Amino acid sequence: MQKDNNNLHVAIIMDGNGRWAKKRLMPRTFGHSVGSETFVKVVDTCNESGLEYLTVYALSTENWNRSGDEIGGLMKIMHAYIAKYVPELNKKNIRLKLYGDLSRFDDKSREKLLESQKLLENNTGMTLGICLSYGGRNEIKQAFEAMLAAGVTEVSVETISNY
Ligand code: IPE
Ligand code: MG
Repeated sequence: MQKDNNNLHVAIIMDGNGRWAKKRLMPRTFGHSVGSETFVKVVDTCNESGLEYLTVYALSTENWNRSGDEIGGLMKIMHAYIAKYVPELNKKNIRLKLYGDLSRFDDKSREKLLESQKLLENNTGMTLGICLSYGGRNEIKQAFEAMLAAGVTEVSVETISNY
């Protein structure tokens, strides 16, 4: 997707981790684990090639319906990723922007995510967007909640975009 003449934005939907693992007679979480390593390589390649925006859809609102085991595995991978790679993203001057309903994460996870975003927010290199607990309908709901809170009384397409 092209933002304008100079700024390219690449968006990736992470998918197929479970099927990839199943084919190899391995548990789904193994697929997520290898998928997270692929994610690291993709981020590095995009950053080194000078891309300005990379956004990945990592977890949708629907994905919360996965088994407790699978969600637990995903959270473990996420925490390991934060501990190991957020300092590296910082060294590489990568900015982090989180999208999605973070209120659905447990307190510690949400804290770590927001802390990471804060640490990287003033970086000036590639912007890495990560959609977590993301859903289009939820995004619209949040925009309307913000409009209500701000006392908006007239809604236009532009108002919705602004919120
Ligand atoms: C994508 O892989 C990663 C997440 C949604 C967390 P899937 O988990 O959707 O894998 P498949 O599509 O079932 O193979
Ligand atoms: Mg899938």
